[in-house]
Amino acid sequence: MRMKKRPRRLRNNKMIRSLVRETKLHIEDLVYPLFVVEGENVKKEINSLPGNYHLSVDRLKEEIEEIRNLGIRHILLFGIPNNKNHLGEEAYSKDGIVQKAIRKIKENFDDIYIITDICMCQYTDHGHCGILTSEGRIDNDETLKYLGKIAVSHAEAGAHMVAPSDMMDGRVGYIRESLDKEGYEHIPIMAYSAKYASSFYGPFREAADSAPSFGDRKTYQMDPANGEEAIREVDLDIEEGADVVMVKPALPYLDVIRRIKYNFNIPVAAYNVSGEYSMLVNAVKNGILSEEAIMEALLSIKRAGADIIITYFAKEVAKKLRGDF
Ligand code: PBG
Repeated sequence: MRMKKRPRRLRNNKMIRSLVRETKLHIEDLVYPLFVVEGENVKKEINSLPGNYHLSVDRLKEEIEEIRNLGIRHILLFGIPNNKNHLGEEAYSKDGIVQKAIRKIKENFDDIYIITDICMCQYTDHGHCGILTSEGRIDNDETLKYLGKIAVSHAEAGAHMVAPSDMMDGRVGYIRESLDKEGYEHIPIMAYSAKYASSFYGPFREAADSAPSFGDRKTYQMDPANGEEAIREVDLDIEEGADVVMVKPALPYLDVIRRIKYNFNIPVAAYNVSGEYSMLVNAVKNGILSEEAIMEALLSIKRAGADIIITYFAKEVAKKLRGDF
C-alpha cells in the first residue's frame, strides 16, 4: 500500500518515541503537600490519604529528608491545630502550628521551598473558610483582615510563598498590601484562583478535619459548571497581584487549565486533589488499573497546560522518574 504519511513511523521504538515526546514530567514541577499536627513524635498515616502522614513538628525533618533525597524541593504546608475557635486565632498566632513548622524546616534545610496554604477552615470551629456574621453568613470583607494577618504571620515565620485558598473576593489584593506593608514585597502569592466547590475534596477534609459543620462552600467556591467565570477570577487575581494562578481540582478541570494557559501569560498551577488521588490509589490497589495510570493522569495535567502540579503522588512520581518505581 502506498502511503506517504504514516504516523506510526514515529512510534517505532522507544528511542524515537522519546525523541518526539511533547510533554515530560519533571521533579521540579511538583509540589508535595504536608500535614503538620500538634504533639510530639507523631507520624501517623492518614486513613483517607494512604502514603501520606500527619506529622508533628519534631518528625518533619525525617520526612523532608526523605522527599529531598527523592529530589522534591517544594512543599505546601497545611496545619491542623489543636484548638479551633470562631475567629480561627491559631491561624495567625506566632506559635501556631504552621509557624512552628516553618521555623523548624528553615532551621534544618536551606533548599526546601516552603509554600503555605492561607485559609481559615482548619482553624475555625464551624469549619468555614472565613469569619461568620451573626446571621451565619461568611463575612467577606471582615475575613480579608484575618487572611492578611495569616499571610504576614507565615511570612514572618519564614514562608517563601503564600497560597490563599479561601476564595473571598479581593483577598489577593488585600494580602499583597498586607505583605508589602510589613516589608514582605518579595514574597510571591500563588492564588487558588479557579477553585471549584468540588466533591473531590472529601479525603482532604477528613485529613485536615476541616469539613464545614453546616451548609457548604458554594457561596464562595466556584460552580463546577462554569469555565468563563474561571477566566474572570484569574483576571481579577492577576490584577490584584497574583504571581501564580491555580486551578483546583485538576483532572475534572483540564479544559479550565488549558483555557487559562492560553489566555494569560503567567505560571499556572494545578492541584491534583485528594479525591483524584484516592480514586487512582484505590483502583491500583484493587487491581482495576495498573500503576501506569498514575503517570498518565499527571502527564495529562501537564499536557493541558499546568506548569506546576501539586500532588500527593509526588513521591511516587519522583521514584518513577529516577527509575526505581
Ligand atoms: C482549604 C483547602 C482545601 C483543599 C486545599 N485547601 C479544602 C476545601 O476547600 O474544602 C483541598 C485539597 C484536596 O482535596 O486535596 N480551603
